[in-house]
Order: sequence, then structure tokens, then C-alpha cells
Amino acid sequence: MALTFVVTGASRGLGVEFVKQLSAKGHTVIACARNPDKSEQLQALVNNKTVFAVSLDTVKLDSVKAAADKIQELAPSGVDVLINNSGIVGDHTQDVTNATGENYINVFETNVVGTSNVTQALLPWLRKRNTRKIVNITSILGSNDFTTTGSSPAYRISKAAENMLSRGWAGQLGEESFVVLAMHPGWVQTDMGTSKAPVTPEQSISGMLSVIENMSKETNGKFLSFEGEELKW
Ligand SMILES: NC(=O)c1ccc[n+]([C@@H]2O[C@H](COP(=O)([O-])OP(=O)(O)OC[C@H]3O[C@@H](n4cnc5c(N)ncnc54)[C@H](OP(=O)(O)O)[C@@H]3O)[C@@H](O)[C@H]2O)c1
Repeated sequence: MALTFVVTGASRGLGVEFVKQLSAKGHTVIACARNPDKSEQLQALVNNKTVFAVSLDTVKLDSVKAAADKIQELAPSGVDVLINNSGIVGDHTQDVTNATGENYINVFETNVVGTSNVTQALLPWLRKRNTRKIVNITSILGSNDFTTTGSSPAYRISKAAENMLSRGWAGQLGEESFVVLAMHPGWVQTDMGTSKAPVTPEQSISGMLSVIENMSKETNGKFLSFEGEELKW
């Protein structure tokens, strides 16, 4: 069944691969990016029939409001699935001994507040449909079980917080039959993951889409890998 997806951070990396694979499956995709016109990869997928580009900077409230209005216009009968994919790593050279407040705040703002802003703004359109799926792309680096080093603390802490945010949404919306997941995409070959990563964007997104297809009441509030494995918080 063709569904309507909203994907944030769709200019490159995992976001643009989501758009590619979702549109190939016949879904309608509203691809949100800070500067959609500057992404050749995204523009190559936009057809203004089933794939639309919308400007969205998740940390700027006026941009979030304008994007939500545009999404309402493009999808008047509602949005089935929201994928909060946008994120930043910040200054990865920092460790706990020298991490700056500015870096902590910037990374937290994008990875946590940005996800919150977009989810709050799109909730009315998600409620219009019965599908009611929200996927937050977080990271195994936010798992207390996995994190044993002092490196990139701003990123790790922000992803732990984004995991908790996902739990919060799952708890709040479970009674309305929403399913909310935190998902680890694997260590993937993107600008963020670098070419050293073992997983390709194609593999990661294909795995995540099969997890998303199988989301059900039982998976609400879980933290899953792109291969569907349940991860420890
Ligand atoms: N790659 C990995 O190995 C890996 C592992 C675990 C988790 N993740 C997570 O997966 C998600 C996607 O990562 P990626 O590897 O595709 O990273 P990426 O290649 O660096 O792409 C990040 C995307 O987020 C967008 N973005 C950043 N700040 C934004 C904002 N304020 N508003 C809107 N969009 C914004 C970027 O837009 P611009 O082009 O405008 O900068 C870009 O489209 C992130 O949440 C990341 O933390 C990735």
C-alpha cells in the first residue's frame, strides 16, 4: 500500500537514500532539507508528483512552521510515517576532558530539540492517519551499554537523550495506537559515518525500511537496529 512519508535531513547520506528507496517502492515522500535546491542527489529524485522537496531547518521554529504548512498543503489527508533522520555529530575531536559547552548545546539542539520540534509540528497530520508511525534515527553510541569511551561526548549524550525522547513519545502516544521507535542505522558510509564504515547506505535503508514495515503495537517504545535487533538503552 502506498503511504505518505516525511523524511528530515534528506539532502544527503541516509536521508536521501530513504527518499530513493521509498519512492522506488511507490510511496509518496516529502523530503525535507535545509537547502533542498542545493542537493543534486535530492533534486534528481524530486518529480513533484510523488516526491516533493520542502525546506526545513529543524532548529528554527519559523522554518518548522513554514514546513508544516507546506506539508499540510502537499498531504491534506495526513502523513503516515515521520522519519526524524537529520542530525549532526559536532566536533568529534573533543572528549570529556575538553568538550565545550557550545558544542554540547549545538549538538543537543539539533539531535534532540530539532526532533522534538518536527514531531510536535507534524503530530496533527500524523493523527489524521491510522498508520501512526514515528521513527527517530538515533545511534548505538547513545546506548549506556555500548558507550565506554570518553570520545564525542556531545554526540553520545545527545543520542542517549534522543533515545529518551523516543521513549517519551512512545509513552505519550501509545494509547492513540502510535508506534514510536528509536533506530540505530548501523555504522554507515556517509559524510558522518566516513568511508571506513562497514555498511552501505543501501543496506542500512533497506534494513530500516523492513523494520519500519513491521512496526506494530509490540514494538512501540523499542530501540532497534537496522537489522531489527533489539538494543539495550
Ligand atoms: N552514518 C552513520 O554511521 C550513523 C550511525 C548512527 C547514527 N546515525 C544517524 O543517522 C542520521 C543521518 O546521518 P547521516 O550519516 O546521513 O549524516 P550526514 O551524511 O552527515 O547527513 C546529515 C543530514 O542531517 C541534516 N541536518 C543537520 N542539521 C540539520 C538541521 N538543523 N535541519 C535539517 N537538517 C539538518 C543535514 O543537512 P545539510 O546537508 O543541510 O547539512 C544532512 O542532510 C543522523 O541522525 C545520525 O546521527 C548515523
